[in-house]
Amino acid sequence: MKIIQTARQLDDFIMICRQSELKIGFVPTMGALHKGHITLVEQSIKENDITICSIFVNPTQFNDPEDFKKYPNTFEEDAKMLREINCSAIFFPAVKEMYPQKDERIFDFDGLDNTMEGKFRPGHFNGVAQIVSKLFEMVRPNNTYFGEKDFQQLAIVKKINEKYLSLLNINVVACPTLRESNGLAISSRNKLLSDKSKDEAGIIYNCLNIAKYLYKYLTVNDLKKYIIDIISLNPNIKLEYFEIVDSNNLQIIENYQNIKNARACIALVIEKVRLIDNIEIF
Ligand code: PAJ
Repeated sequence: MKIIQTARQLDDFIMICRQSELKIGFVPTMGALHKGHITLVEQSIKENDITICSIFVNPTQFNDPEDFKKYPNTFEEDAKMLREINCSAIFFPAVKEMYPQKDERIFDFDGLDNTMEGKFRPGHFNGVAQIVSKLFEMVRPNNTYFGEKDFQQLAIVKKINEKYLSLLNINVVACPTLRESNGLAISSRNKLLSDKSKDEAGIIYNCLNIAKYLYKYLTVNDLKKYIIDIISLNPNIKLEYFEIVDSNNLQIIENYQNIKNARACIALVIEKVRLIDNIEIF
């Protein structure tokens, strides 16, 4: 497995792959890898000749600088996990390599960022778009893999890919969320939870499934109220939002008329750890 640290080395590597007509799969991450990330890399390995996983903690997407400073760096463990599954290369650049100067670009997501994470974390998606667009331009993969766990991020990546980067001809592949046995979506943040809170966080997936089951019988508002009431029974949990959205534009819906696909999305804080999740309702 190759470890690539500079744009120049990456360019040389990509050039050789292109000359040999190898299909390139790309999985962008911020490291601290877990089994959820690994499923994305495995899917890429299956579907491409070469798989590049990037590990870069992107400063421009953190709206809280403390959060950025605290982000775990576990490069040795990450590299070991990737080597074990035969990933072809890791791109592990320094901040100066990705941002030789301040990135002033402002992206327009046609309203996809008006709700949920976009509303609760101002500037976050613009930072994601800055780094993802740079990475896409540098790697120019055939396929790139993103988790449905971050459903709004996935929608935003698809949007910038179509709106700003269509000449690169990159196919964005959506990958299912990998979960713990109690349904909790696997996340690097789960390590920060006590066993008790981890158990309690099982309520997230339970509530999403209750919503999926009950949507036929209740109005959107009654369904939301029902879920919010269940969650408020636990004093350790602070709900940020529970929304039913149109999967195609991520706008919050009030009824199901004219909606082809809907998704239930949730964000909450438990023991100071912020967790998000979502599932398809229909
Ligand atoms: P990161 O949080 O490291 O996630 C990298 C990728 O792994 C994302 O596409 C995310 O949706 C996916 N992922 C995380 N947990 C998952 C799980 N339990 N099951 C399946 N996939 C999962 O998302 C980012 O990094 C950054 O914003 C990034 C896109 C790299 C830009 O900096």
